[in-house]
Amino acid sequence: MSAGARFSTELNADVPLARPGEFRPLRLKHLNIVPPVVLAPMAGVTNYPFRALCRQYGAGLYVSEMITARGFLMGNALTALLASSQPGESPRSIQVYGSDPKDLGLMVERLVAEGVDHVDINFGCPVRKVTSHGGGSAIPVKPRLVARLVRAMVRSAKHVPVTIKMRKGIDDELSTYLEAGKVAQEEGASAVGLHARTAAQLYAGEADWDAIADLKSHLAIPVLGNGDIWEAFDALRMMRATGCDAVIVGRGCLGRPWLFRELSDVFSGREPAPPPRLGEIAAIMLDHGERMVEFFGPRMGILQMRKWTSWYTKGFRGSAALRAKMMEIESLADLRALVAGLDGEEAFPLHALRAHRGKGTRVQKVSLPEGYREARDDDTPPRGPHLESEIAAWEAALNSG
Ligand SMILES: Cc1cc2nc3c(=O)[nH]c(=O)nc-3n(C[C@H](O)[C@H](O)[C@H](O)COP(=O)(O)O)c2cc1C
Repeated sequence: MSAGARFSTELNADVPLARPGEFRPLRLKHLNIVPPVVLAPMAGVTNYPFRALCRQYGAGLYVSEMITARGFLMGNALTALLASSQPGESPRSIQVYGSDPKDLGLMVERLVAEGVDHVDINFGCPVRKVTSHGGGSAIPVKPRLVARLVRAMVRSAKHVPVTIKMRKGIDDELSTYLEAGKVAQEEGASAVGLHARTAAQLYAGEADWDAIADLKSHLAIPVLGNGDIWEAFDALRMMRATGCDAVIVGRGCLGRPWLFRELSDVFSGREPAPPPRLGEIAAIMLDHGERMVEFFGPRMGILQMRKWTSWYTKGFRGSAALRAKMMEIESLADLRALVAGLDGEEAFPLHALRAHRGKGTRVQKVSLPEGYREARDDDTPPRGPHLESEIAAWEAALNSG
């Protein structure tokens, strides 16, 4: 831990707090996001219960996990649940996944009629099953297809802002972010988000913040920087280093929803309090569990909590042994019994701040359809899933991405 009271790694020991007026709110049409902080869309993670939990700690934009257009339009029950919200969630933000302009236009029209305040589109999914059909992170390879998709969404969204979220490109040989960003801007996107890794990199290595600065220097609309915000001070460093207009926070908040309070503090010029001790974290985890059971029902809610227990306890003494037991919980009562045995006074371990959560460190060779890299001018939408069973298989693949 650094000298003085700040709970941070050395990397952030001397980072100054935000000065008054240093950072502007993120403006997306009528929406004013203060502080300029966005919860990243994460499949299997940013459902309503987690978004609501995070929002208790601080303001910002809390985006849903990706919702597939075909599943949504066909009335798939799980898709509908994942797209759903509760009164009071404001602004309500949804990330959509699709590759057909007609589907996306129709979906956005319905979402806006339901009262959704912001729509983002996923152009960054690196999953093999998706890119090998030309979807997800393969879409920006074809700028004219990006144009058709964004145009269809913007037209349907009317007063509601539409943003895109993409990666740097396919791999070191094929960079797509500059062209896709410019096209999205021309078609009326309100902002673009850049996860500064290629699809080949998946979640490995460090995000390339220089690419965020580069994109910012080429666009007039806001640029949202994404990649490796593990500590609240990383957000200030990213914004100062790149000039981006907001940060998107992904894995750093897994099992650490109070990160949003710390972000709110540093953007307001306040030194954040140290993170909660294990006793308080256990209470947060139980609260999360109760919300999940209420939203998904007892079985599905508790099964999903298993992965969360490992994120909440990451880095604590004895957590490896504890996690094996946590992975077997069958009910809220099991969860309560396990947390009752924890040492509530144990302080948050400093090394857990930057411990990676949620995804591994492997890289991949991106699979694209035959001849795809040579057909960049083509704007034909890739074939998506149409049958109910096919959609279920896609959604499972997407959830693993
Ligand atoms: C479990 C998990 C699920 C994800 N699902 C999505 C998703 O549905 N849509 C999306 O655009 N990105 C998704 N991502 C990528 C994140 O939004 C984010 O771009 C990435 O984690 C990099 O940010 P980070 O370094 O702060 O984690 C996912 C990431 C994780 C870890």
